[in-house]
Amino acid sequence: MTIAAIHPNVIAGETPTLSPFAPASLSDLDKQHELGQFLTPNPVAEFMASLFEIYRSEVHLLDAGAGAGALSAALVGRLCHQPRKPKRISITAYEIDAAQIKPLRARLDGCRRECERVGILFSATVLNEDFITAAVPMVRGDLFTSESPRFNTAIINPPYRKISSDSSTRLLLRSAGIEASNLYAGFVALITRLLDKGGELVAITPRSFCNGPYFKPFREDFLEAMSLRRLHVFESRSAAFSGDAVLQENIIFHAVKGASKPEQVIISSSSGASGSPVAEREVEYREVVSPDDAEQFIHLVEGDTQDSARAVMGRLSASLPKLGLFVSTGRVVDFRAKEFLRQQPERDTARSEERRVGKECRSRWSPYH
Ligand SMILES: C[S@@+](CC[C@H](N)C(=O)[O-])C[C@H]1O[C@@H](n2cnc3c(N)ncnc32)[C@H](O)[C@@H]1O
Repeated sequence: MTIAAIHPNVIAGETPTLSPFAPASLSDLDKQHELGQFLTPNPVAEFMASLFEIYRSEVHLLDAGAGAGALSAALVGRLCHQPRKPKRISITAYEIDAAQIKPLRARLDGCRRECERVGILFSATVLNEDFITAAVPMVRGDLFTSESPRFNTAIINPPYRKISSDSSTRLLLRSAGIEASNLYAGFVALITRLLDKGGELVAITPRSFCNGPYFKPFREDFLEAMSLRRLHVFESRSAAFSGDAVLQENIIFHAVKGASKPEQVIISSSSGASGSPVAEREVEYREVVSPDDAEQFIHLVEGDTQDSARAVMGRLSASLPKLGLFVSTGRVVDFRAKEFLRQQPERDTARSEERRVGKECRSRWSPYH
C-alpha cells in the first residue's frame, strides 16, 4: 500500500453551517432524533458530489431523506460546472418531514435556475413520504404499484436510528428480503435495489455496518450487489457534523452497482473540519474485504500503523470462544451485580476496572461466567 496523495483542500470552502435542524427546543431535539435529522454541511456535501466518476448524459438522481436538499444541490452544482455537462438531470427527493418540504423545494428551484443557465434540462419531484413505505412495494414489484422510477445516481445521508426486530419498519423491509437493524442500512439496501446496473451511490453513514454480527446480512447483501470504489473516514466522531451533537463515527462511501470488484479501493481520511487536508491511499480490494472472511468485514485501514496492527491481528488465528473466553463489551453496572464482585482475586475471577469521574480507578474481581 502506498500513500497515493495528500491533497490539501478537497473538503474546502466555507465553514460548515449550523444545521437548520439545530434544535430550538426540547421537542425539536426529540424530532431531530426520531427522524435522524443531521444536515450535511456544504463542504462535506460538495466532497461527496465530487466522488461520482461516470459521465452520464442523463442523470436520474435519487435523494432519499433529502432534508433541505443539500446533497442534490451539491451534485447539481458540480454537474453544472464540469466541462462536459449532462443533457438532462431529473431528481426524485423523498422527505418525510413536512417542515423540510418548503426549503427543499426552494433549493431545487435554485438547481433548476442553475441548470437553465447552462442549458441542462431539469425536472424535480418532491415526495413528502416515508421512503421505506414507498420503496418496498417497488422493490417487491407489487401489482398495482405505479411503474418504478429508474435511477442511475443516488446521493444520500439517510436517517440513523435503530429499528427493533419486531417493528413495522423491520417487517416491511423483511417483506422485500432486507434484514436491517438500523434505518440507514434499510435505506441503502433499498437504494441498491432501485439503482440501474452501473448506477452509482455516494452515501454518508455511520461506520457501524463495517463489522459486527448485526450488520452481517446487510454487508453480504450490499457487497454482493455493489462494488466499493472509495471509502472516506472522518478521524473525529463529531467534526463532520459540528453543528449537531452527532457522536456516530461517519464514513462516506462510493460504490457502483453490479460492476466487477476493482483491484484497488481508495481509502481516504480527514479530520472532518472545514478545509482539513485529505490523506488518500490505494489499497487492494482484498485487503478491504477479504474473500476468505465469512463475516465480510470491511477494513478501514487508514495508515501504516493501523496496517501493521492489522497484520499482527491477522496472524492471531484462534477465536475467543476457541480459547474458552467470552467478552462482554456492555457496561457492567456494579450496584446491580454486587453478588458477582469480589474484593480479592480468586480462582476463575477476572479483573473489573471501574472508571469513576474525578476519582481514581477502582479494581475489583468478578468470576467468569
Ligand atoms: C440525516 S438527515 C439528512 C438530510 C439531508 N439529506 C442532508 O444531507 O442534509 C435525514 C433526513 O431523512 C428524513 N427522514 C427520516 N426518516 C425518513 C423516512 N422514513 N423517509 C423519508 N425521509 C426520512 C429526515 O427528516 C431527515 O431530513
